[in-house]
Amino acid sequence: MRHHSLPRPAVVHNGIIENYQELREELARAGCVFASDTDTEVLAHLIGLGLAGHGDLGRAVASALSRAEGSYAVAVVSLDNPGVVYGARKLSPLVLGVGQGENFLASDIPAFLPYTREVVFLEDGEMARIDAGSWQVFTVAGLAPVEKKPVRIAWDIQAAQKGGFKHFMLKEIFEQPRVIADCLAGRVDASRGLATLRELDDFPVPERLTIVACGTSYHSGLWGMQLLESWAKIPTRVEIASEFRYRDPILGPGDVALAISQSGETADTLAGMRLARERGAKVIGLCNVVGSTVSRDADRVIYTQAGPEISVASTKAMCSQLTLLLLLALHFGHKKGLAGEREAAVPLAGLQDLPALLEAALPGMRQRAKELARVYSEARSFLYLGRGLNYPLALEGALKLKEISYIHAEGYAAGEMKHGPIALVDPKFPTFALAPDDELYPKVKSNLQEVQARGGKIIALTNPGMDLRVDHVWEAPRAFGPLNTFLMLPALQLFAYEMADYLGKDVDQPRNLAKSVTVE
Ligand code: AGP
Repeated sequence: MRHHSLPRPAVVHNGIIENYQELREELARAGCVFASDTDTEVLAHLIGLGLAGHGDLGRAVASALSRAEGSYAVAVVSLDNPGVVYGARKLSPLVLGVGQGENFLASDIPAFLPYTREVVFLEDGEMARIDAGSWQVFTVAGLAPVEKKPVRIAWDIQAAQKGGFKHFMLKEIFEQPRVIADCLAGRVDASRGLATLRELDDFPVPERLTIVACGTSYHSGLWGMQLLESWAKIPTRVEIASEFRYRDPILGPGDVALAISQSGETADTLAGMRLARERGAKVIGLCNVVGSTVSRDADRVIYTQAGPEISVASTKAMCSQLTLLLLLALHFGHKKGLAGEREAAVPLAGLQDLPALLEAALPGMRQRAKELARVYSEARSFLYLGRGLNYPLALEGALKLKEISYIHAEGYAAGEMKHGPIALVDPKFPTFALAPDDELYPKVKSNLQEVQARGGKIIALTNPGMDLRVDHVWEAPRAFGPLNTFLMLPALQLFAYEMADYLGKDVDQPRNLAKSVTVE
């Protein structure tokens, strides 16, 4: 039976309602008929039921949101309340713009900056009621009025879009704590030590995985491969898409290709996906842009939910890719009965703590990056060294430096130094070493002694309390095993950023580069 009598509010929602399934079942039992399987529609029905009960839209919104777990930024209208909009936020941004004879609700200031500079900032758990001539703010819990004063924004549109940061790249580096939290929302059941990717619920565990990607996304794949093999025991190879697409790869029905792409439009990666499918593999897309070609060409798509990445140099997108690759390894490991609650509990607990740990560390990291950028701004070439999970980071650190500061840099497996590159080392050829407190630390330490013996200068990114005696020790907070990566990656990004900014380069739009390489 369809509830035609129910008033039907319209809802716009950013975020993830983690308990939407149980709410949906309850609403279905109450006779609600759903047109979609989105969490947003569950909110709409919940509000509609409340509205039918007492006709007060504000009360209906507040009570519906009080039952929602997870994150939301919502705006709600209803035919029975013309000219009125209610908005509310929890862990997802929402701001109120106060105009002349008009008021606005938006996720970010630039949306209404052309119309007003008067902004009211809402906090989590607060809701607002606006109409053309007035606005009020209340608490969601209890509808208690909250005193708010509009703030006048002096930024111009570009600055507003950068959220007060000098460059999009810097803003996006500093968004990484929230990106990790957004990637985890609705995907981790910490109480059961479970990582669940709903997108792959009925998707069989691959017998073999072929990761296909380019640039930074390729580096993410090299990193994820190590966890997919060690935690989920899935034979995994990582392919540079522009090479893979012209090879004659052996793939069959048990194979799965995982295409990693921030833009979802990279021509080589799309070609790699098509080739994999022609050879009989299923294809999963891991991408950031909703509705992109990768997301439409793949059999399954996992969105990285990093938000728009404007800067050509990819930063927060990589952070989100690594987060999801770690969850994927746990997800498949659990499906194979390998990563049980005990094994998954530590990384999942560590992941939950990461946003706060990184948030606290970023300002100090930036300061350290600034200092070192001034020491090394004359360098004409840099060697980046790492082992294990830090080898992909070495490649990524080198790529970041190259693409925005135009200084030549080479990422290398630290163990490979003695097979040739050590011949390059001299006092004018510095080394950036990734030497966290992990099982390969002693090996990296001895590699660095070889570099020092040849007069090479060294920046060593490590954890507190390690016994490295190099020119510049850079300490990042310690995290569990692979989670160290989430503290080291921003340091690499910030070092490249501060070098490029100090050298006066166009950080967000480096010469010769495009944000998405849609041609070969
Ligand atoms: C990364 O900083 C570069 N902009 C570039 O290497 C990029 O990662 C590569 O072009 C792949 O893009 P995609 O993730 O959108 O496929």
